[in-house]
Amino acid sequence: MTLEVPVTTKKPVAYEIRGRVLVVSIDSPPVNALGLGVRQGLSEALDRLEEDQSLSAMLVVGAGANFIGGADIREFGKPRQAPFVRDICSRMETSSKLVVAAIRGAALGGGLEVALSAHYRLVVDGARLGLPEVLLGLLPGSGGTQRMPRLIGVSAALDLMLTGRHIGATEAVALGLADRHVSGADAVGSGVAYVEELLAQGARPRPTRDATAVRGDASDVEAISTARNEQRKRHPMLLSPHLIVDLVEATSQLPFDPAMEMELEKFQQCIDSPQRRGLIHAFFVERDTSKIPEATKGKPRDVNEVGVVGGGTMGAGIAIAALNAGLRVTLVERDEPALLRGLSNIEQVYAGLVAKGRMTKSDQNAVMARLAGFTDFAALGFADVVIEAAFEDMKVKKDVFGQLDQVCKPGAVLATNTSYLDIDEIAKATNRPEDVIGLHFFAPAYIMRLLEVVVPRQVHPDVVATAFSLARILKKVAVRAGVCDGFIGNRILSVYRRAADYMMEDGASPYEIDAAIRAFGYPMGPLQVSDLSGGDIGWATRKRQAQTRDPKQRYVRIADRIAEQGWFGQKTRRGWYLYPDGARKGVPDPDVLNIVDEERKRSGIVPRSFTSEEIQRRYLAAMVNEGANVVHEEIALRPLDVDAVFVHGFGFPRFRGGPMLYADMVGLPKILSDIEAYAKEDPQFWRPSPLLLRLVSEGRDFSSLNTRDA
Ligand code: COA
Repeated sequence: MTLEVPVTTKKPVAYEIRGRVLVVSIDSPPVNALGLGVRQGLSEALDRLEEDQSLSAMLVVGAGANFIGGADIREFGKPRQAPFVRDICSRMETSSKLVVAAIRGAALGGGLEVALSAHYRLVVDGARLGLPEVLLGLLPGSGGTQRMPRLIGVSAALDLMLTGRHIGATEAVALGLADRHVSGADAVGSGVAYVEELLAQGARPRPTRDATAVRGDASDVEAISTARNEQRKRHPMLLSPHLIVDLVEATSQLPFDPAMEMELEKFQQCIDSPQRRGLIHAFFVERDTSKIPEATKGKPRDVNEVGVVGGGTMGAGIAIAALNAGLRVTLVERDEPALLRGLSNIEQVYAGLVAKGRMTKSDQNAVMARLAGFTDFAALGFADVVIEAAFEDMKVKKDVFGQLDQVCKPGAVLATNTSYLDIDEIAKATNRPEDVIGLHFFAPAYIMRLLEVVVPRQVHPDVVATAFSLARILKKVAVRAGVCDGFIGNRILSVYRRAADYMMEDGASPYEIDAAIRAFGYPMGPLQVSDLSGGDIGWATRKRQAQTRDPKQRYVRIADRIAEQGWFGQKTRRGWYLYPDGARKGVPDPDVLNIVDEERKRSGIVPRSFTSEEIQRRYLAAMVNEGANVVHEEIALRPLDVDAVFVHGFGFPRFRGGPMLYADMVGLPKILSDIEAYAKEDPQFWRPSPLLLRLVSEGRDFSSLNTRDA
């Protein structure tokens, strides 16, 4: 018996002949990326155009919402298979028959490179054009670095390629990237009409390589040198931005073909670099964190009205994040003075934006009109989600949740912004624990993209799904976390901060530690971060943990000694660093070094020196090991969730992908052997995670536990 296997007949590229025009439609969901099937289809379309004498022109369009979303990012790093996009582009450009692209939705990366190889480009409303390769550690590798400057000039091309920003239809026409903007969304209809019009006018193929916007004059030279200096300053550790500048420079120094060879060589250099793997991992991680069990089990509830309890730094920041997303916000504080302070905290942020010219006064007024403040919890009766950001104390939280239970409408999501308290316990203060969840924002809440969605035992899947849909509205990266002290981020932080403290007492100066961590790619070292956020916060946490701390655990008192002096960082003008005259950049403080010395003596430690590499290795090993514990205990769903937390909430260098991907790249056996070596000095602190041990024994890595390979 033979089995009937259903065969999908839908091809990734479809053709249709309209009169003398071959309409080529790319149809490869979700975003019409240039995978092998699409490349083959485009290649066959070009054969057809060449062979069929009745055809005078080809129109390229995308089926669905997009033109072409770019190269298929999943193929990078894997063996390449012909036909290649750059060859297809070259064939299109040199075709003796007219080739036109009609762009609706995204024409990004390789997608825009295809469009750039057409002879004319039309855009309809909602078109998004850009060369975002730099954000993935890459450069446009199918002629984009050569065609774009020739078409729109050196400055504009550098801007688009170095920022990776997307531009709309109007700007595309203004820059000369597109020839015509037709309103509406009918790319096929408008496209065919445009081709007919061009044919009627006798328009001839117009290869972009022959365009003349590169002048090679003093202003081009200046634009290149400015870009080069800026990129060196801003991204000293990245590879691709610098190569992009070199390639744009080549547009005036080399003929097209040798410059294309240079592009290919530099593109391959990017492909081979670990940064490409890190940045592409980061791209997928942002999308994968929302793949949670509740995505299928739960249904998000509508969110229009947000209530915020508490107008301090966190509450005000959360209110701003919600206002910025167009939501209505009700702020509740315990009394009138606290409410006025809270409202003024919010107002000041917007006033700052107006003062810097980043917002108009009338926009500020429009935003503030969506904000209301009360001292009575009853005002929260209409809220779809209430986020409590009151003082970090179980009694205070339980009292707030008891009151919310009284006033909130049925089905309202009751969220706490606690950073470590037991949310199962908080939920007990209500008669609706199924509606209680943790929404842990990171300061400043309207800037930091991370949102830990902390899922207590009794919560309903709809509430988890609502938290993720709210995160999308707020443009946050939501990461699902289980309940434990510190959840994912702060729990891991407390461990690697201890590793840093141990190194400090053993001989590394605070300034050497910060420098080593910056050299790894962090914007700031951990002690600079502590000075920025306030040393009093960590001090309070350590005091809270003192009762439950294992007496056998090594405890370094240096940070406490500094906090005891009232040196909390920038806000007190000294912390780990001195901030003379309120300067934002600190200078080393000899008094801090004296305290460090005293503590070393008190502990009977003879200081030894640490290299930058040693500091990084210990710091990262502690981070990775606790990351593995967090996955092992199912506090994080997968290693990729830990990566998202650190990239979006803790300044981990994005180009390294996150601590777990970094560990994979170093090799888990190497990380484990470091931990085992450190354990000889301090077996209590350095205990290899069971997950790390298991993966090493099975010859696997963290990526093997992710939904997608890095
Ligand atoms: N290659 C492979 N997969 C891609 C892709 C690409 N170039 N672009 C998007 N995808 C995938 C996403 O991973 C996602 O997959 P999932 O549903 O399994 O999570 C899906 O397509 C939808 O993407 P998403 O970003 O959620 O859709 P959107 O409608 O919000 O945005 C784009 C669409 C095209 C604007 C956006 O996906 C994007 O910016 N893509 C990258 C573009 C790029 O950098 N191209 C240059 C590559 S060199």
